[in-house]
Amino acid sequence: MIILLTGSTGFVGGAVAADLATRGLLGATLFLVRAADATLAWQRVHDNLLRFGVPAALAAAVTPAQIICGDMTAVDKFAQDERLATITHVIHCAALATFSTNPKIWANNVDGTVALAQAVHTKAKLQRWLQVGTAMCCGPGMTSPVNESWESGLSDESHLVPYTQSKLAVEHALKAIPGFPLVVARASIVVGHSTLGCAPSPSIFWVFRMAFALERFTCAPDECIDIIPADWCASAMVSLALKPSLAHDLYHVSAGQSSSNRFDAIDIAYAKAGGTEPIAPRYQQVAVDDLRSLVPLFQERLGRVNRLLILRALMLYGAFAELNYVFDNDRLLGEGIAPSPPLADYLAECVRTSEGIPMTEQMAHDFK
Ligand SMILES: NC(=O)c1ccc[n+]([C@@H]2O[C@H](COP(=O)([O-])OP(=O)(O)OC[C@H]3O[C@@H](n4cnc5c(N)ncnc54)[C@H](OP(=O)(O)O)[C@@H]3O)[C@@H](O)[C@H]2O)c1
Repeated sequence: MIILLTGSTGFVGGAVAADLATRGLLGATLFLVRAADATLAWQRVHDNLLRFGVPAALAAAVTPAQIICGDMTAVDKFAQDERLATITHVIHCAALATFSTNPKIWANNVDGTVALAQAVHTKAKLQRWLQVGTAMCCGPGMTSPVNESWESGLSDESHLVPYTQSKLAVEHALKAIPGFPLVVARASIVVGHSTLGCAPSPSIFWVFRMAFALERFTCAPDECIDIIPADWCASAMVSLALKPSLAHDLYHVSAGQSSSNRFDAIDIAYAKAGGTEPIAPRYQQVAVDDLRSLVPLFQERLGRVNRLLILRALMLYGAFAELNYVFDNDRLLGEGIAPSPPLADYLAECVRTSEGIPMTEQMAHDFK
């Protein structure tokens, strides 16, 4: 078995690499990485493994010889690499994962992914391509809990951001490749790590920090939020990639009904972690369009910030929170994968590892 892992320098892909390390599979893995050369690329993979708590001795199992140095928007530059023919499994995490309107989103997430898939598919005896997707690719207007289904998704312009639309489009483009062994794993919102908190990545945690500091956001206290930690997400992804047979070709890797916390439960856990009182008595739910009324509070509650930038960020993430989606994960649990730990169970570590780090610095991670 030879695995190709893409996106290993990022958040989800880094967690997948760390999971492969714990399974003793790093030596059987090739890594597609962007860098000037294989040594620099190897250094990036190695550093990220350490960030995810992989012991140096285990991380040393990766050598520069396992690096395919390349960019998926320029697949022709490495399409002749003989190692492509050895690949049996692909875990494709690489993507431009941003809610901003980056003009390169389609070239990366759709065209680049399809080009990579075709290059590997024509050369290798591929047994499985695990396409790491986002559960939010269903777009707005779905009924919660959202089904694990090819039908859960609007391909039109109603998406809140181009990113989710691109992630849905690529799934259908891959499905159309004849004989392609596709399995789609749509991840829910990934926040922190169940034991390392926000140390590997602060992605999205700043939204909670801002909501609690402002004592206002778009969630109702009794609404459930579907959130998973990166390490559990990675473990589920690797299991789906390697399990010899699967009952379905599309899954939600999500907290689902059993592991999603209500917003008020997250409030209690957050307060306990910070040694403060829950904001519940003062909390006000605010519609996305009314978030601008919070601007006068920004300086007092968030410090010196770029108010327009913060407002834009809160409106984007607030619009997703307002969808109030829980992603059904019956199929995933049916494969024997244990449920995710709820956010409230590991939130204290996220709070601890965010101490002293400005919210805006954490936020920058999500706006590429
Ligand atoms: N984070 C979440 O909450 C979440 C939720 C649902 C689904 N997902 C999915 O998980 C996957 C990873 O997301 P993430 O949050 O881990 O993002 P991330 O931290 O930004 O990582 C993205 C990874 O993709 C690589 N990449 C991007 N464009 C590339 C290209 N043209 N060629 C080669 N590599 C490229 C990046 O490489 P560089 O280091 O060189 O930039 C990086 O390793 C995505 O498919 C995303 O849709 C994430």
